[in-house]
Amino acid sequence: MSKTKVVYACQQCGRQQTKWSGRCPDCGEWNTLAEEVLQAKGAQPTASLGADVPRPIGTIGGDAAPRIACGLAELDRILGGGVVVGSVTLLGGDPGIGKSTLLLQFANLVAQAGHKVLYVTAEESALQIKLRADRLGAGSDRLYLLCETGLESIKTHVEKLKPSFVIVDSIQTLASPEIPSAAGSVSQVRECASQLMYLAKRGGVCLFLIGHVTKDGSLAGPRTLEHLVDTVLYFEGDRYQSYRIIRAVKNRFGSTNEVGIFEMTGTGLSEVKNPSAYLLGQGGRGIPGTVVIPALVGTRSLLVEVQALTTKTSYGVPTRRVSGADFNRVCMLLAVLEKRVGLHLGIHDVFVNVVGGIFVDEPTADLGIAVAIASSFRDRATPPRTVFVGEVGLGGEVRGGAQLASRLQEAARMGFEKAILAADCLKGLDVLPRGIEAVEVKTVAQTLDLVL
Ligand SMILES: Nc1ncnc2c1ncn2[C@@H]1O[C@H](COP(=O)(O)OP(=O)(O)O)[C@@H](O)[C@H]1O
Ligand SMILES: [Mg+2]
Repeated sequence: MSKTKVVYACQQCGRQQTKWSGRCPDCGEWNTLAEEVLQAKGAQPTASLGADVPRPIGTIGGDAAPRIACGLAELDRILGGGVVVGSVTLLGGDPGIGKSTLLLQFANLVAQAGHKVLYVTAEESALQIKLRADRLGAGSDRLYLLCETGLESIKTHVEKLKPSFVIVDSIQTLASPEIPSAAGSVSQVRECASQLMYLAKRGGVCLFLIGHVTKDGSLAGPRTLEHLVDTVLYFEGDRYQSYRIIRAVKNRFGSTNEVGIFEMTGTGLSEVKNPSAYLLGQGGRGIPGTVVIPALVGTRSLLVEVQALTTKTSYGVPTRRVSGADFNRVCMLLAVLEKRVGLHLGIHDVFVNVVGGIFVDEPTADLGIAVAIASSFRDRATPPRTVFVGEVGLGGEVRGGAQLASRLQEAARMGFEKAILAADCLKGLDVLPRGIEAVEVKTVAQTLDLVL
């Protein structure tokens, strides 16, 4: 075996140093340095994809990257319209959330569409996968199963079988004999991923890697992999509830911030066809502090419920808790409400929550959040079937509203009748969606006079 050298690598930022320390000097994170064994020159796969020469950019083929859509519309959308041939996708998530289920379903769908798929299971036995496949109705002839943890053997099988898709479940359980450390260590994970990636890029194979995220970090998290792969998807949701959200946090071939909403059923994950209905839920309407906003999530508009609760502070310093929205933005809105509207929020605890696990970080949600806080403060509910769109400035003025047409369409589709929005932002809109009345406002104070 070639000569090796031991270094300590930060799992957050990738910094390498020869001595261990409790805190990474670069990113400042604690306990992120892990021992890694570096191979001497020659053992690392090279990233070169062949003999290329510099060419003028205009002479390079103008076709968009070829994509393969699997038919699960939610998944295709997160990937930017299908899987790009030769791309590497990492799917991360807590144990039991449904990663194997999703990718087995996906594997079956693309196999049914005529592509050869190799599902490598390094975690479960072939029988376990078969039982799951029976439950999901995955029985395509083109779907091949391989129970293997050794990297070299997997590479040989991929080269022999020549599949279009390779799914590795999971990357943390693979091991390369080149690396002396145990499966799951940072160097093993990185080595196995880069070798498979090299294979995928060279052969035009779509590679999917499943990565575990554990709370105690005992397995090397997929953090180190995020830099290597083209697309990173995170599977979120409470595994005791049936809804799951998949989020693209990195995508070299499409939009990030895109989310796909699925429901876990006995026969696998099914797409939620009407995510706004799921996000709005049943309750909440008519309660002070609850407001609906049409938020832009990735490339589509979804109606989400913003809830706020204000209570008199019982301890010295008022508490502010925000989930699903930007904390600093909410603090700014509190200051605007205090100064421009005269609400004495300085002696109140404020809690803001966006329902359904969606993170709304666009300024256009400002008006809705401000109205929700004021509605709870005054203990008066906002009118039913009304949505709020607009960015709030420090002077209390309301403006803006990107992609208004798609937001209003979604509101109209969900049976909302009134949209409160910034004066003059309707200019760019040709027609209002049927059933929606637009009410233009100039300031937050005017909005509150109107609705509370
Ligand atoms: N018979 C079943 N009916 C409904 N859901 C099931 C059934 N069996 C397993 N599940 C769901 O599948 C989940 C496990 O999915 P799995 O794909 O193995 O997760 P992961 O690979 O992320 O660890 C369980 O948490 C459960 O929600
Ligand atoms: Mg699994």
